[in-house]
Amino acid sequence: MRPQKKKAQTFFSRSPGETKRLGAWLARKLRQGDLVCFCGELGSGKTTMIQGLVRSLTGQRAASPSFVILHEYDRGKLPVYHFDFYRLGKPDDLETIGWQEYLFRGIVLVEWADRYPELLREARFIVTFSGEDRCVRKISLVEFERLSRIR
Ligand SMILES: Nc1ncnc2c1ncn2[C@@H]1O[C@H](COP(=O)(O)OP(=O)(O)OP(=O)(O)O)[C@@H](O)[C@H]1O
Ligand SMILES: [Mg+2]
Repeated sequence: MRPQKKKAQTFFSRSPGETKRLGAWLARKLRQGDLVCFCGELGSGKTTMIQGLVRSLTGQRAASPSFVILHEYDRGKLPVYHFDFYRLGKPDDLETIGWQEYLFRGIVLVEWADRYPELLREARFIVTFSGEDRCVRKISLVEFERLSRIR
C-alpha cells in the first residue's frame, strides 16, 4: 500500500552550494528506515544534493557513484546507503540487490529511482530536479507518511 502524501514543496536553487544546503536541511528530517528517491536528468543536481545530505549525516564526502551501484557512509549515527541505479538493468536486478534490507539498518538514498516504480512506492521523500537555466534548478520535494518497517 502506498503511503499517504503529506506535503509538496518547490524550491529554486541558484548554485550547487544552495542545493547542498537543501540536502543538509532534508537530512534533519530523516530517520532509520527512510528511503529518499532522487529523480531528474543527467547533471541535474541529484549527487550534489546527496553530498549536502551525507555531509550533514556523517561528516563524510559523498562520491559520485556513476560506475558503482552502492556507496556506504558509516561515520554517522546511522549508516547511509547511496545507490545509483543509472546502470542497473531490469527490475529483477533490483531484487538481487536486496535494497529493502538496507532500510532496516539505516537511511537509503537512490539516484535514478524513477526507473523502478516499486521504489517510488516506498519513498519517504521523492525529490525531482529540473534545469531551469545554467545554474538554476527547480527542485520539487514530496513528503510521504513514514512506513512502519516491521519484519
Ligand atoms: N543550482 C545547482 N544545483 C546543483 N548543481 C548545480 C547547480 N548549478 C549548477 N550545478 C552543476 O550541475 C552539476 C550537477 O551534477 P550532479 O552530479 O549533482 O548531477 P546528477 O543529477 O547527480 O547527475 P547524474 O545523473 O549524472 O548522476 C554539477 O556540475 C554542478 O556544479
Ligand atoms: Mg549523480
